[in-house]
Amino acid sequence: MVAEQYVCLCCGYNMIGHAPDVCPFCGAGKESFISADQCSEKFKVTEEQVADGVFELCSSPKLGLEHHAYSIESEQGRVCIDCPSCFDHRVEPPDIISFTHHHFLGACNMYSDYFKCSIAVPEADTRNYIAAPFLPWITKIKGDFSFNDVEAMWIDGHTKGFTAYFWHDVGFACDLIIANGDNFMINPYGPKVPTMDACREFEEEGKKRNIQTVCTSHGSMSFDKWSDTFKFLLSK
Ligand SMILES: [Fe+2]
Repeated sequence: MVAEQYVCLCCGYNMIGHAPDVCPFCGAGKESFISADQCSEKFKVTEEQVADGVFELCSSPKLGLEHHAYSIESEQGRVCIDCPSCFDHRVEPPDIISFTHHHFLGACNMYSDYFKCSIAVPEADTRNYIAAPFLPWITKIKGDFSFNDVEAMWIDGHTKGFTAYFWHDVGFACDLIIANGDNFMINPYGPKVPTMDACREFEEEGKKRNIQTVCTSHGSMSFDKWSDTFKFLLSK
């Protein structure tokens, strides 16, 4: 348990230990930080079902970049993919929070302390300074693996450790493709060609598995829509 934690209202990054002069993630000034306790008073986490057994976790009202996380009611336990920036003890308790990559670790350490759940982050992404304060909570994962019946596939690309997840007919692509207003773009915050290759790998795997729903960092959509969006972006 940490004594102090602060949350950046511009992006949602959780700073463990002290409020920094500048947000390590988005560069916002000190005035953008509130304490994690204030954050929990001001925001709550909503859980909305987006597929059988899959719930989208969002902050209400929106917090920072509002990176959406997901909760899977798997047969052997509850698996969260990524984590909200705001800590809310009223959410369904997860057994594990497993990350696609290190960009939005949110308040995972607080969820871990409160619910005694484990935190899994792709090993290659744990070397980044953004993940450093969370290392005491993190279990490093590498390559492909499965937790309960949720399958993780290391596809690299957007970040070195980027890992997609699949469960039944739902795929978790996180921010491989991001929304820009009404438009979409292949995530530009990473190496271009490897990110496109990662999108291609996710699409091929999704087809093989007959995935129906894709959960992304900005919401869920049908696999066909995600796939068409990717093909459109490739053709531009
Ligand atoms: Fe990202």
